[in-house]
Amino acid sequence: MKIWRQKDADSKGQMVDYPISGIEGDMSFLEMLDVLNESLINKGEEPIAFDHDCREGICGTCSLMINGEPHGPDRLITTCQLHMRRFKDGDTIVIEPFRAKPFPVIKDLIIDRTAFERIQQAGGYVSVSTSGNTVDANAIPIEKDKADEAMDAATCIGCGACVAACKNASAMLFTSAKVSQFALLPQGRVEAYDRAKNMVKQMDLEGFGNCTNTGACEVECPKGISLINIARMNREYLWATSKG
Ligand code: SF4
Ligand code: FES
Repeated sequence: MKIWRQKDADSKGQMVDYPISGIEGDMSFLEMLDVLNESLINKGEEPIAFDHDCREGICGTCSLMINGEPHGPDRLITTCQLHMRRFKDGDTIVIEPFRAKPFPVIKDLIIDRTAFERIQQAGGYVSVSTSGNTVDANAIPIEKDKADEAMDAATCIGCGACVAACKNASAMLFTSAKVSQFALLPQGRVEAYDRAKNMVKQMDLEGFGNCTNTGACEVECPKGISLINIARMNREYLWATSKG
């Protein structure tokens, strides 16, 4: 293993070599890192800091750059769903954090992704009056294809692989998924203009780059979020800004 080690945000990091043996093909990638960390702890060395939570492809925290690809060589899976059988005995595996200015490294392989939270807070929600006259969401009929498209957009887990894969460190796939999951539903139309304007504004303020239609984000996204969402967000944004 060649793994990025960095003490904290202010320190300079470097790649460190870790030979490792006794790894089973059925171990997940994170289990392999657990084994490595156990051996480091037993030797009195500092374990490698990496993010993880659900370990089943839901939470989006386990983001690693593996041999230059966000979430590794397989498509439509997260790092925690990657298994060691995907690699050959004797392979060199290079592990780095996702690299983008708006995702500063906190320690080793852990990055600060709160920029995504701030984009979400800028408009990724639906305001509901809780005065006592709330309409049951299920009482509003929604066309099946629209519901399916909204659901597809809502599967974005906010992992940041799209940003890491993009040469411009663009967050447009993430932001457009969050815009689309509401824009497609009648409940989300009420705040649609402000949502598109405010989320795009926050995305720019965080320092993410623009989309130049390379499509690397869509290829590396573990949830298969489509570029169509970016086109939809652009339409929403143009519509919103033309209204002042
Ligand atoms: S769009 Fe895909 S790659 Fe980007 S944050 Fe969402 S799930 Fe991750
Ligand atoms: S640990 Fe939650 S998606 Fe990988």
